[in-house]
Amino acid sequence: MYNTLTTNVKDGIMEIAINRPDKMNALNQELMKELALAIDDVYKNTEVHSALITGTGPKAFVAGADISEFLALSAEQGTELAKLGHMVFQRIEESPKPIAAAVNGFALGGGCELAMACHFRVMSDNAKFGQPEVNLGIIPGYGGTQRLVQLIGKGKALELMMTGDMIGAEEARRLGWSNHVTTLDDLLPKTRSILQKIHEKAPLAIAKVIKCVNAYFKFDANGFETEIAEFASCFATQDLQEGAAAFIEKRKPVFKGE
Ligand code: COA
Repeated sequence: MYNTLTTNVKDGIMEIAINRPDKMNALNQELMKELALAIDDVYKNTEVHSALITGTGPKAFVAGADISEFLALSAEQGTELAKLGHMVFQRIEESPKPIAAAVNGFALGGGCELAMACHFRVMSDNAKFGQPEVNLGIIPGYGGTQRLVQLIGKGKALELMMTGDMIGAEEARRLGWSNHVTTLDDLLPKTRSILQKIHEKAPLAIAKVIKCVNAYFKFDANGFETEIAEFASCFATQDLQEGAAAFIEKRKPVFKGE
């Protein structure tokens, strides 16, 4: 179905694997357009309750935007490229269904930005992240200057974006970039197990948590006001009736996302 990605759905999780292993899974424009379609499917497919994004092969999650496409671009075309990246990564960040990054190797440049657009990151112990764009005379263009600050703070983010240094998995976890570090073999099972745990919760409540947390970082939204509105709208859902009743009746809730 796609040239640059593979997707499969199992147990309600859509696994999206970036699939250009001979190019370290670098993000070319075709791939970004196909990723947009796959994310649309995550939104729309009622069999899909969450997604994980990973890279094909043992070396790279994604080693950045495809550098071979840069030389021919004008500033106007650069704007279009950045807008495409921002659109796709914003769709990931704003997805009402959780999307995790299973970072299986290098997550550099656009790969770091892709992982940061996901709701959380799990990293294998061989993986590294970084924003090495300054080595090429460019800067992050798919949200990296903003999301890296959000995740690890201004001082460390500035240092990393100015030195181009790569950070290993354990330090990434200490910095808060990654939530968990596993072996490469355990990476997908660990990521899937977190998503499965989320599947047991009320889907509308999960979507509201994502919306409220994103509002914290939006200059045109008041996070506290968003939380009041989203909290209040829970009272109009069947899921809340079911969750509260199940607690009182000492049984497991059966949520329907209604
Ligand atoms: N864009 C296009 N091609 C890329 C790429 C990228 N971002 N990253 C890797 N590749 C290609 C290489 O050109 C090479 O292709 P070739 O076999 O046709 O020559 C292939 O992927 C393998 O990469 P290679 O550099 O030989 O592997 P390595 O193990 O020695 O190094 C990296 C791995 C990730 C450290 C190195 O490829 C790298 O630094 N990549 C660029 C990272 C970057 O600057 N990203 C930000 C882009 S804005």
